[in-house]
Amino acid sequence: MLPEREREDEPSHEQKREEDLVVSPILDAMRERRSIGKLTGDVSDAELRAIVDAALCAPNHKLTAPWRFTALRGDARARLGALFAELAEPVAPSDPVERGTFLAKEARKPMRAPLLLAISTRTVADPVIAAEDFAATAAATQNALLAAQSLGLGAIWRTGATAYRSEVLAFLGLDPTDRLVALVYLGRPAMEPPKERPRDVDAVLRVIE
Ligand SMILES: Cc1cc2nc3c(=O)[nH]c(=O)nc-3n(C[C@H](O)[C@H](O)[C@H](O)COP(=O)(O)O)c2cc1C
Repeated sequence: MLPEREREDEPSHEQKREEDLVVSPILDAMRERRSIGKLTGDVSDAELRAIVDAALCAPNHKLTAPWRFTALRGDARARLGALFAELAEPVAPSDPVERGTFLAKEARKPMRAPLLLAISTRTVADPVIAAEDFAATAAATQNALLAAQSLGLGAIWRTGATAYRSEVLAFLGLDPTDRLVALVYLGRPAMEPPKERPRDVDAVLRVIE
């Protein structure tokens, strides 16, 4: 036991910053994870499988395994890009030059990474189970992001109005009742990670005793 004076000098639990509580590679990984939008190189099958395996470790009430993982690489990305452009046509500018630029940008979107991992969830009529399945699949997505980072890969969770379209589900070979949770873009990081986001625990935490 420490002498009284020394114990008084120690910061209390409340005084300690969250970061100082414990040295943990998992906490470090969560704090350091950033969306990496510029991706290059390749993702090996072993890396892909390790990422999906980590995703499967997510908590899942009643072990419903609601998730599906659909990886797109090579030409499949260009085909998805063509679909993105087709789906964006109704909202494209009418000016021919602007329209061409806009649609070309849509078509290039899936080409921003060597591998896209579509993570989807089944949907069921029971609203509680449906909510829990979606939550489990979102947790699986975060596991995938952290696994990618720990393998030295970059990743970004992307979605958007077009990605949620039923035509995209069909393209992915999924059931019309499935729901897309994320298109995780994966590859070798080709940019510095964005700077740390400010976090304020006090602003969001309330303790009721
Ligand atoms: C459900 C969901 C959808 C997202 N969709 C997009 C997207 O379509 N495009 C994009 O650039 N980032 C998307 N993001 C990533 C967020 O923009 C990103 O996490 C946020 O800016 C914080 O940055 P960080 O991940 O580096 O901490 C999405 C994140 C979530 C959770």
